[in-house]
Amino acid sequence: MDGTLTVLGLETSCDETAAAVVRGRPGARGAVLSNWVHGQAELHGAFGGVVPEIAARAHAERADTAIARALAGAGLGAADLDAVAVTAGPGLIGGVISGVMAAEGFSRGAGLPLVAVNHLEGHALTPRLTDAVAFPYLLLLVSGGHCQLLAVQGLGRYRRLGGTIDDAPGEAFDKVAKLLGLGFPGGPEVERWAAKGDPARFAFPRPLLDRPGCDMSFSGLKTAVARAVMRLAEAQGGLWRRDIADLCAGFQAAAAEILAAKTARAVAAMGARPSALAVAGGVAANSELRAGLERVAAEAGLALVAPPLKLCTDNGAMIAWAGIERLAAGLADAPARPRPRWPLDAAAAPLIGSGKKGAKA
Ligand code: KG4
Ligand code: ZN
Repeated sequence: MDGTLTVLGLETSCDETAAAVVRGRPGARGAVLSNWVHGQAELHGAFGGVVPEIAARAHAERADTAIARALAGAGLGAADLDAVAVTAGPGLIGGVISGVMAAEGFSRGAGLPLVAVNHLEGHALTPRLTDAVAFPYLLLLVSGGHCQLLAVQGLGRYRRLGGTIDDAPGEAFDKVAKLLGLGFPGGPEVERWAAKGDPARFAFPRPLLDRPGCDMSFSGLKTAVARAVMRLAEAQGGLWRRDIADLCAGFQAAAAEILAAKTARAVAAMGARPSALAVAGGVAANSELRAGLERVAAEAGLALVAPPLKLCTDNGAMIAWAGIERLAAGLADAPARPRPRWPLDAAAAPLIGSGKKGAKA
């Protein structure tokens, strides 16, 4: 055997019930044999955000189906697997418990080892699954629940260089969309409107850009958009389509600039030269942010690694891959204890803020 492992991964920590089968070994690209994701947007849309109780129930109802679909998609049975990996945190605890119980039941029934995976480690190692990126590298993780700049030094060795002190960027996109009466999730809507707008019409703040370090803040930016909306409503009784486009463009430009500038600082703060700049999370879909990061990477002489979107957002393949890395390194013996908080860098000071999906780190 060449050390190749086949692992089923289950992810239920937020609003996606996801399972996947991945085959591979550390140091080479992995093969995603199946990647089944069942989103819950239709369950939470009316609330403008994820409702934990609804999410947990939906995960409990769908986890077994997710496992069955992932196996069928890969054309494999339990006997073809080396292990089962499951997200044991951080995240919405009800969903995490649903996933761990389903994975535990399946793995025991099949006589397979169960690997507890940190959801953030799943995101952090995805550039190795897709591009076999070598340690160390810099990762910007930006989604509705996370915002961190991580030095990925080795398996289980992460240094948080910075992160948001209040809202996660995706959360800010979602809140701005809600404010403007656009759909959920808000990121893609805001981006669509921004394409038609003038980013210079509103002078929105870039909080913390004038301060040293890699921490970020998005809540003041969101409030500035809310104030601008209020002023326009008072002055003209409502918003014109032009106003919505300009507000979206101004907000997006500020958010992308904050993220790119702090990422540039993190490159310098890494110490050792990173092998690449990687980005993950749903907000990585944003083309203005990608353009900003391309510039940062080019200036630093680094490649920008952006995994395909379905592996950037929450998915089971990243959990399966983290399981493969952990098994191969002999680091897979921790019990699957569900936990709402589980920082990757235990030495970093806790961040003040918590995303809409709960405190992450
Ligand atoms: O990674 P993800 O699917 O879930 C977690 O939050 O973990 O990220 C979803 C977030 C949402 O807040 C959504 O509005 C945002 O990513 N998003 C975007 C874009 N596409 C999705 N934000 C900005 N621009 C986009 N194109
Ligand atoms: Zn995530």
